[in-house]
Amino acid sequence: MSELEGKRVFVTGSGAGIGKAIAALFTERGARVVISDLNADAAKQAADEIGAAGVANCDVTDEGQVQAAVQQAVDLLGGLDVLVNNAGIEVSSPLLQQSTESFDKIFAVNVRGTFVTMKAAIPHLVEAKGNIVNIASIAGIGGSPLLGSYCATKAAVIQLTRVAAVEMRPTGVRVNAVCPGFADTAMVERLVPDFEAATQVPFGDLVAAKQGRLGTPQDIAEVTAFLASDRASWITGSHYVLDGGLTASLV
Ligand SMILES: NC(=O)c1ccc[n+]([C@@H]2O[C@H](COP(=O)([O-])OP(=O)(O)OC[C@H]3O[C@@H](n4cnc5c(N)ncnc54)[C@H](O)[C@@H]3O)[C@@H](O)[C@H]2O)c1
Repeated sequence: MSELEGKRVFVTGSGAGIGKAIAALFTERGARVVISDLNADAAKQAADEIGAAGVANCDVTDEGQVQAAVQQAVDLLGGLDVLVNNAGIEVSSPLLQQSTESFDKIFAVNVRGTFVTMKAAIPHLVEAKGNIVNIASIAGIGGSPLLGSYCATKAAVIQLTRVAAVEMRPTGVRVNAVCPGFADTAMVERLVPDFEAATQVPFGDLVAAKQGRLGTPQDIAEVTAFLASDRASWITGSHYVLDGGLTASLV
């Protein structure tokens, strides 16, 4: 039997990039996945391509929309075993030149979005003794120029993961995070010009030197699938680093 056979799964921000790869791999491994995204066209296209169980869109900054989408997913699937909090945005700016509005926006998506989606899903996950995987980042572990507010949001996601895991342990619900390095998605494509301008190094060279190669969305989907599966039944409150050794290196 496939490791995710029959698991009922809701993935935020799964119309593209890492979320879409997670939805695709989970479906391939036997899960029934509901796709959710801010971009309804991308969500529909992803669901059609993947053969997902359905679509329940929301903007994760809107708690009412999140609650409605989680309920829609539960109705479609007959319950919920796994929540993947993947929706996230980046801001590329020197920290102290970033506008307060933009700072609030990235916290609203990356941190508050993770919080409200966990809250909406928890009653259903308790019923199923399910689990949550939050997509954090190595930016939550170390600092990076141009990614100050992003780093702060991802550190917050790691801490939300830890505390939720400890508080939920008596219920049997597990909560983990994954921390990818640079992976090949539209998000990183948007960052390349600013990183090249700041470092004066071609982005491909920077990536080769620091992490061997660019990660693929599938690299991240693999670890997410493991954490969501029953094989990870003793793993909770953890954050898994996937970065080709970037954070292991001092030079
Ligand atoms: N790509 C990387 O190198 C990398 C590295 C570490 C962590 N991450 C994290 O992985 C996650 C996915 O990143 P990605 O690279 O696939 O990004 P992406 O920009 O390629 O895709 C993000 C998806 O999320 C959706 N989204 C954005 N804001 C939303 C909102 N408010 N509500 C619902 N959906 C929303 C977008 O429409 C898009 O479909 C993010 O949390 C990101 O921070 C990415």
